[in-house]
Amino acid sequence: MKGIILAGGNGTRLQPLTSAASKQLVPVYDKPMIYYPLSILMLAGIRDILIITRPDDLPVFRKLFGDGSGLGLAIDYAAQAEPRGIADAFRVGAGHIGGEDCALILGDNLFHGANLPSLLRRSAEKLRGCVLFGHEVADPQQFGVAEIDRRGRLVSIEEKPVKPRSNLAIPGLYFFDGGVVDIAKGLEPSARGELEITDVLRAYLEDGAADLVWLGRGITWLDTGTHETLLDAGRFVRDVQHRQGTRLGCVEEIAMYMGLIGSEDCYELGSDMGNSPYGQYVMDRARSYGLGMPPAEFLEGV
Ligand code: DAU
Repeated sequence: MKGIILAGGNGTRLQPLTSAASKQLVPVYDKPMIYYPLSILMLAGIRDILIITRPDDLPVFRKLFGDGSGLGLAIDYAAQAEPRGIADAFRVGAGHIGGEDCALILGDNLFHGANLPSLLRRSAEKLRGCVLFGHEVADPQQFGVAEIDRRGRLVSIEEKPVKPRSNLAIPGLYFFDGGVVDIAKGLEPSARGELEITDVLRAYLEDGAADLVWLGRGITWLDTGTHETLLDAGRFVRDVQHRQGTRLGCVEEIAMYMGLIGSEDCYELGSDMGNSPYGQYVMDRARSYGLGMPPAEFLEGV
């Protein structure tokens, strides 16, 4: 399965933080925002990843991850000239998808929870059109919203409804078969002028090929689109890390535990940042690899 991280947009709601820099490079506590969605694709078992950004931001992302080989990944980049909507990712990324299944994650979405990786892998394996996720929230009118019937079947999908039919928000992580490219090509911009992801999902729903997977209460989903939610996400990461002495979204550690790189490589990556507590953590984890929790258990808890 191919992966796409959509990391463009003008981030106007976060100005002036985003006036000169990409939103997805803004820090969420101790690391750039994009580390979190990247770690989710890695944990879902995806190695071949396209990062879509604004043209001006491409060199900065390239500087951060290069071709991805340092993390045992293949990372490529593409520019989205204008923020034409989330579904534009499938037009910009058509060549990368190449008719295969793909996962799209929004560069400002953060997920954390026990057994999330196996849930994602199972969802990808049973893909028969598209998989979207559902997570209960207090403010569904801010998101795409799914409605299910009494038997738990998905019946409607709406983008930021004024009167939501449920409190089941659709987070920014989706799996699609290769047909998504043709669906995206056929889309018209919505009333607000965007190619809507919910229109793509609805096309699958109308074909009877959309599956909704619940992200239960044990999973935390955070969207970092405003100053408040950005701070909430930073506090969440800080609190979990502080209590456990571990790091969330630590892509170097995840690459090592997934067997994409060796512990010596991981140590090197840490020592390149050795002046920071983050770099020290990566070095410590590399040094103690194999002594603590077995990799399979570790990965389910990241
Ligand atoms: O966070 C989940 C929600 O994301 C979903 O529930 C909604 O259905 C979906 O439309 C989206 O809503 P947002 O209002 O949060 O989307 P936003 O415009 O903030 O864009 C989300 C991310 O995608 C953000 O990091 C910027 C990036 N983006 C967005 C657009 C429209 C791009 O890179 N290019 C774009 O053209």
